[in-house]
Amino acid sequence: MVDLATNFMGIKLKNPLVVSASTISGHVDTVKAAEAAGAAGLVIRSLFEEQIALESQRMADQISQYNHISPEASSYFPAVKHGGPKEHLMWVEKTRKAVKMPLFASLNAVTPGAWVQYAKELADTGVNGLEINFYYVAADPEKSGSEIEKQLYEVVEKVRAAVTLPIAVKLSPYFTSVVNVVRELEKRGVNSVVLFNRFLQPDIDAENESIFNEMTYSTSAELRLPLRHVAILYGRTKLDLVLNTGVHTGIDAVKGLLAGASVVQFTAALLKNGIPYLSTMLVQLQDWMTEHNYKTVDDFRGSLSQKRCDDPFAFERAQYVKLLLKQSL
Ligand SMILES: Cc1cc2nc3c(=O)[nH]c(=O)nc-3n(C[C@H](O)[C@H](O)[C@H](O)COP(=O)(O)O)c2cc1C
Repeated sequence: MVDLATNFMGIKLKNPLVVSASTISGHVDTVKAAEAAGAAGLVIRSLFEEQIALESQRMADQISQYNHISPEASSYFPAVKHGGPKEHLMWVEKTRKAVKMPLFASLNAVTPGAWVQYAKELADTGVNGLEINFYYVAADPEKSGSEIEKQLYEVVEKVRAAVTLPIAVKLSPYFTSVVNVVRELEKRGVNSVVLFNRFLQPDIDAENESIFNEMTYSTSAELRLPLRHVAILYGRTKLDLVLNTGVHTGIDAVKGLLAGASVVQFTAALLKNGIPYLSTMLVQLQDWMTEHNYKTVDDFRGSLSQKRCDDPFAFERAQYVKLLLKQSL
């Protein structure tokens, strides 16, 4: 019998498979189903400050549209205000009570005050850790890459000072030097980095000359990007590495662990195949370990990282040039 136990941010997990932030955490039934299928933990979908701001604005607009009919009437009634993050916080608390597995809250804020306030409020719900979901679309030509990084570090410093919970930072893959960003995050006392978030890109409908957004799920082919960065980072940082994006099978999880991930996170595999599929992924991981004579996950974690593999250049440019030269019609 193989032992899948994994230490993640000081938390003992029964295996390295964690459900990433998504709509799976939107129903108690699906969260329970993930636990029953063997998930070691689950990240609850993000609390988005922008969504709260948008809902508050809509509510204020709806109330004010009747002001012209009876302006004085609005002063008779107590002011109606949007509840802010309350609904989300209550949801996190409810989820916490529904399952025993470790749960992680996720936060995506915009203003410095909200990063701190919401982080504290999420920490008070009883979750085991906090994931900072930092995403910035660089569309302002006046703003340099280092300014955007500085913004990330300021957020991390503020949240670190506000909560004692373990913190993971979920990054986008669009930083020029991911290794450098991770080193800077480590200096600021975070416990883990999640590589990477996957963002939906808008598309263009050429026929109707319009822009549209549609949900597309990842495939295993997308695993290679986080795999490369996890492999480069393993042994170069003390932070726990989380591989996220493109994990669709137990063998994809094996690849992440060989590269050096402490845990792998996934969502699309479960949205496509149903939550019980997680148990199939676990069996695939166990079977692979048995076939390869590994008793624990630590026996092979990071063995194909850049530091430990036979060909360190495989993760850099050299192999790329070789491959390009090999291609012919
Ligand atoms: C329907 C859906 C909702 C998501 N919601 C969130 C979210 O609230 N916060 C977040 O950080 N990531 C969110 N994600 C991104 C996932 O957590 C994950 O990073 C991404 O889907 C890549 O993993 P995958 O290849 O296993 O799908 C969402 C993804 C999907 C498909």
